[in-house]
Amino acid sequence: MSDPLIEFDDRDLAAQRAVKNLRGLAIDNDTVRRLLSEARTHNAWHERDVPDETLRSIYDLMQKGPTSANGSPARLVFLKSDDSKERLRPALAPGNVEKTMSAPVTAILGYDIEFWRNADVTFPHKPEVQTAYQEKPQASETVAFRNSSLQGAYLIIASRAHDLDCGPMSGFDNKLVDLEFFAGTTIKSNLLCNLGYGDAEHLLKRSPRLGFDMVCEIL
Ligand SMILES: Cc1cc2nc3c(=O)[nH]c(=O)nc-3n(C[C@H](O)[C@H](O)[C@H](O)COP(=O)(O)O)c2cc1C
Repeated sequence: MSDPLIEFDDRDLAAQRAVKNLRGLAIDNDTVRRLLSEARTHNAWHERDVPDETLRSIYDLMQKGPTSANGSPARLVFLKSDDSKERLRPALAPGNVEKTMSAPVTAILGYDIEFWRNADVTFPHKPEVQTAYQEKPQASETVAFRNSSLQGAYLIIASRAHDLDCGPMSGFDNKLVDLEFFAGTTIKSNLLCNLGYGDAEHLLKRSPRLGFDMVCEIL
């Protein structure tokens, strides 16, 4: 049914057709198992390089996940070299040092508290929805943190879709990371995520999740 209040242009109509075609694609069980239902958090890694091209491809996928007004606040630094890992070491909680130093890649996922500076790119039809945050720095930071956290989840799913395993971590000193990697910028660290090919022989059994009736209500 068409919306009488909106004038759709050719690109809008093409986008609508593309999404209708998606419905016909299968979501198979194996994919769901690999992306979420049976994928695990990893703490030990095989010595196998993750090519830069794979990281670019993961970003291309994760950036498609939704953020409010398409603000896209996440900023990423992928640490691969020994030198860059050493710069991170002092900020890590003791329990996170070994797994991080041995991971092929550690992603620092930050958020730009002035994400709205890219509004002309990310929301060109109504940039003022984003630029309004210029006057509300606290709200801007809240929005940036919320949406970058979502983008952290997209990073995990996108990495798994590229056959990689993930080890997300919040056990680190954000201030130290910000000083070391984001000094002089409007970026703050949110979380870390180790990426690579996990060594399943170091996994423990999975901790139980909370059942539907414990956490959900249908009203
Ligand atoms: C945001 C976030 C922060 C986490 N921080 C740490 C951490 O600092 N150290 C750690 O060993 N594990 C950390 N974890 C891993 C969780 O404990 C793990 O993902 C959870 O127990 C589920 O494990 P599973 O995916 O194997 O079922 C973190 C996970 C997330 C999503």
